[in-house]
Formats: sequence, structure tokens, C-alpha cells
Amino acid sequence: PRDLRELAHQHGIRIGTAVDIAALRGEPDYRKVLNREFTHVTAENAMKWESVEPERGVYTWADADALVENARRNRQRVRGHTLVWHNQLPAWLTTGVADGSIDSGELRSILRDHITTEVRRYKGKIRAWDVVNEVVEEDGTMRKSIWLDHLGPGYIADAFRWAHRADPQAKLFINDYNLEWNSPKIETTLALVKDLQARGVPIHGVGFQGHLGIQYDYPGDWANVMGRFAGLGLEVAVTELDVRMELPVTEEKLATQATYYSRALTDCLSVEACKELTVWGFTDRHSWVPGWFDGQGSACLFDESLAPKPAYRALLAVRDPR
Ligand code: G3I
Repeated sequence: PRDLRELAHQHGIRIGTAVDIAALRGEPDYRKVLNREFTHVTAENAMKWESVEPERGVYTWADADALVENARRNRQRVRGHTLVWHNQLPAWLTTGVADGSIDSGELRSILRDHITTEVRRYKGKIRAWDVVNEVVEEDGTMRKSIWLDHLGPGYIADAFRWAHRADPQAKLFINDYNLEWNSPKIETTLALVKDLQARGVPIHGVGFQGHLGIQYDYPGDWANVMGRFAGLGLEVAVTELDVRMELPVTEEKLATQATYYSRALTDCLSVEACKELTVWGFTDRHSWVPGWFDGQGSACLFDESLAPKPAYRALLAVRDPR
């Protein structure tokens, strides 16, 4: 294959990236690589609650619309990210809950309205939604958040039902990090999915974020874990893949990074139910990693000047393992 689009077609999967909307608008070279290489896109921030409703009742859709419109023009499918999360909530909501001016009954209707409004706006234009993001802790307990605290665990089933009502065609996902190996978090997430299914809740997929680093061993369990979820009848997807490293960059580290990317694609291809691999940004020019992990970076497939790195070439060389 000549590029990731051809690779995607060859393997019959979608290859996606998170998109930085400011770069999409302002950087023609970024836009060119994005639209040349990818068949699927996720808004890195533009569809999160603080982005779309910064003030109560004041909706700002311009950035999310720009992503959806660019995707349409370039034959890219879209993953909606994310409807229910504990981060990047608007201040009016978190302060309202903290000072008691929003009680739990009102909070529940605010959540229902948020999900309904956003999903309905993009009905038919979003293939899959990350309905709930990061709802399980590493130790296997349910994550503490304003949702769990004030609405109880039933908010998860409600969220899926509301999203399904707003767009019955959209595939509805639970999405999380550190799901790439067997752990208490996996057992709880599997149990949660089974419980939702048993109650007839519309849940269709699990997203493995896949934020990896070469200073840790590659998660050799990953294909096994994907298979466990696929066994429940779910779609599986790699939704936020990146592979960070301690700086400075060396040829050796880039070579190791390349093996992590190609193993992730190979793991996805080895599981019939895995039809999407999305990277969390494609260029080191726009990556969340340096801002979050001191002294780390270079996590993407292209460098700052948009030259492909060894990881990019390694992906193109991946053969179907089945
Ligand atoms: O929008 C403001 C801008 O007005 C301000 O000038 C600037 C100064 O700091 O901050 C901007 O907000 C930043 C926002 O990204 C948009 O760029 C926030 O500070 C920053 O915290 C935020 O980070 C995002 C992070 O989620 C927040 O939780 C990252 O870009 C984004 O890549 C990251 O994505 C998450 C996924 O949604 C879920 N999985 C983990 C993944 C990585 O953390």
C-alpha cells in the first residue's frame, strides 16, 4: 500500500485519527496529510461538553460541524467523542453541582438533554459514539464522578438508552484506557457490559484507547482481551493509539516505537470484530503527550514537519495475521 488509506482498504478496516480543529482550519499541510491518509476521524476536543455548551443553554457547534463537514467532503467516517465523562465538563455544570444549585433530579435531566441534543444534531453523520468514557477505575471499582455520586450507577444504562433514542443507527461504545491487558479493570468492564446486555441496554462496542509508551512492555495480552469483549458480541476498536517515549528521540527508540504500532495493528487484525484503529493525533506537532508527561513526546506517526516516521512505514508493512 502507498498510504494508510490504501492500507485500510486492503485490510477492510477504518484507520482514523484524532483531529485538532485549529490545525484543520489553519494549517494546509496538516489538512492535506489528514485527508490523504485517514478514512475515519475523531474530534480531539471539539465534541466534548465544555466545547459544545460552554455556558448553560449556549451551544457552540462550529468546531464540531467543521470536523463533520471536512469528513463528509473527504469520505471519512466519524467517531463521536464523548458524551459522558468526568473531565472537560463546563464550569457552569461542575460549580452548579458543587454549590448545590443543581440537584440530582435536575442533573439527570441536564445529562439527558445534553446527550439528546448532541446525538440528534449529528444523527446519520456519526458512525459510532463514545457514550461513556473512563467509567471504571484501575482497581475495578466504578469511577467516582459527579455522575456516580449524584445519579448512582444507573446513569450508564440511561446514557446508552438516551443516545440510542436520539440516533438508532449509531454504534454505541464504552471507551477506556488501560484496557489493553487483563486486570481488575477488565473484569469489571466485562461484567458491566454483560449486565447492560442482560437488561437490554443498547451497547455495541468497546473502545481501547491504547495510550502506550515504549518504556513499558508492549501489552502482549491485548488481542486476548479484545477477543474476550468480541466474545460478548461487541465490536472492538482501537480508539486513541499513541506510543510515547522519553526524550530525546533516538533511532533505536523510533524503531521500538514502530514495533508497538505494528503490533497494535496486527492485534486488531487478528480479531474479526476489530474494524477500526484510530491514532490520537497523527503528528508530533499536535500531540497531547508533551503537555501531560514531563520529558516525553514523539508519540505519533509523523514528526513535527509531517515527515513519516519509522512507525508509519511499519504500519504499511503489516500483513493480515489471519
Ligand atoms: O481550550 C483551551 C484554550 O482556550 C486555552 O488557551 C488553553 C491553554 O491551556 O487550553 C485549552 O484547553 C486545553 C484543551 O485540551 C484544548 O486544547 C486544555 O487545557 C487541555 O487540558 C486539553 O487537553 C485535552 C485532554 O484530553 C483533556 O482531558 C487533550 O487535548 C486531549 O488530547 C485529551 O484527550 C483525552 C481523551 O479525550 C480521552 N482519553 C485520554 C485522552 C488523552 O488525555
